[in-house]
Amino acid sequence: MKAKKRVLSGIRATGRLHLGNYLGAIKGMLALQADPDYETLYMVADAHALTTPYNVAELRQNRREVIIDYLAAGLDPQKSIIFLQADVIEHFELAFYFSSVTTIAKMQHLPTFKDKVKQHPHHNSMALLNYPVLMAADILIYHATDVPVGVDQKPHLEVAREIARKMNATYGTDFPEPKMFATKGEHVPSLKGKGKMSKSVAGSYINLTDDLATIKKRLADAPTDSGQGEKLPSSGGVANLLTLVELFQGSQQRQKYEAQYLSTGLRYDQLKAKLAQAIYQELKPIQSKRAQLEAQPAYVDKVIASGAQKARQLAQQTVKDVKTKLGLG
Ligand code: TYM
Repeated sequence: MKAKKRVLSGIRATGRLHLGNYLGAIKGMLALQADPDYETLYMVADAHALTTPYNVAELRQNRREVIIDYLAAGLDPQKSIIFLQADVIEHFELAFYFSSVTTIAKMQHLPTFKDKVKQHPHHNSMALLNYPVLMAADILIYHATDVPVGVDQKPHLEVAREIARKMNATYGTDFPEPKMFATKGEHVPSLKGKGKMSKSVAGSYINLTDDLATIKKRLADAPTDSGQGEKLPSSGGVANLLTLVELFQGSQQRQKYEAQYLSTGLRYDQLKAKLAQAIYQELKPIQSKRAQLEAQPAYVDKVIASGAQKARQLAQQTVKDVKTKLGLG
């Protein structure tokens, strides 16, 4: 039998999940979980939350909430190993070994690092600098080849590939060079008309737990224009709304709106009302499943404990091999 290819992905435990996380990451995670050629591991990147300022009580809550979000969205512990990163301490050990083949200059030049330093100028920590190295360890500790993430994570995957190459060349390890598994929603735009949907930008996102009224309110605040023109806008509020239409209502609906824009004119109140409905339709089953899971804390505990045990077994084997190759065992 052909060996299955491994998949790993994770989401930081920094708050509520939004449509960007769902379309860019979770949809890909679900697609690979359903594919029998893959063995899938999905973690909550709880330790990565320490790289930006955080509140201890909130983190304790958030790491569990993301597990519940995963289960509500359809990740299945019968098919995937679902776990908390901090439960598998080998990730941190491997990250330290990896930091020995990674230069400070390289990490300082990453756009993701520069953005975070701008956002939190007084939190320019070693943990933040080391963020991509820990992420490389998360992936390579399981020899994962495919990583379902949004396009913003590409620079981090490049670091993981470089670390794999360096480790293999220097110490004779056999790490694969992991690649991104992209979805149609690899870049979900911000509702504000500029940049991507992001939890750190107020007004940019719709959360997975939002009810219809909240979704409508958030869309109502999205900037638009007069609704008519000779050329379709290629960026800004309207372009972003049309991208969301395509993602939730399909490309035909988008084309219909585009034709209206170029002829009789587009009514944004109607577009937004229909889009809100379509988004809510997709989120409703996830929200009902979430309500059920919230009433089953013992089940959630069991998923977390059994995921940790399975992940640890795999991770320990890798760290043992690497230690030997590094001269530490
Ligand atoms: P995080 O928590 O920032 O984001 C989680 C996932 O959501 C995707 N995403 C988006 N995709 C499309 N459009 C958007 N607007 C959007 N916003 C967020 C992200 O690309 C990501 O896939 N470094 C990771 C967490 C991590 C990880 C890992 C991922 C830690 N270790 C190992 C994969 C493998 C992160 O910051 O995710």
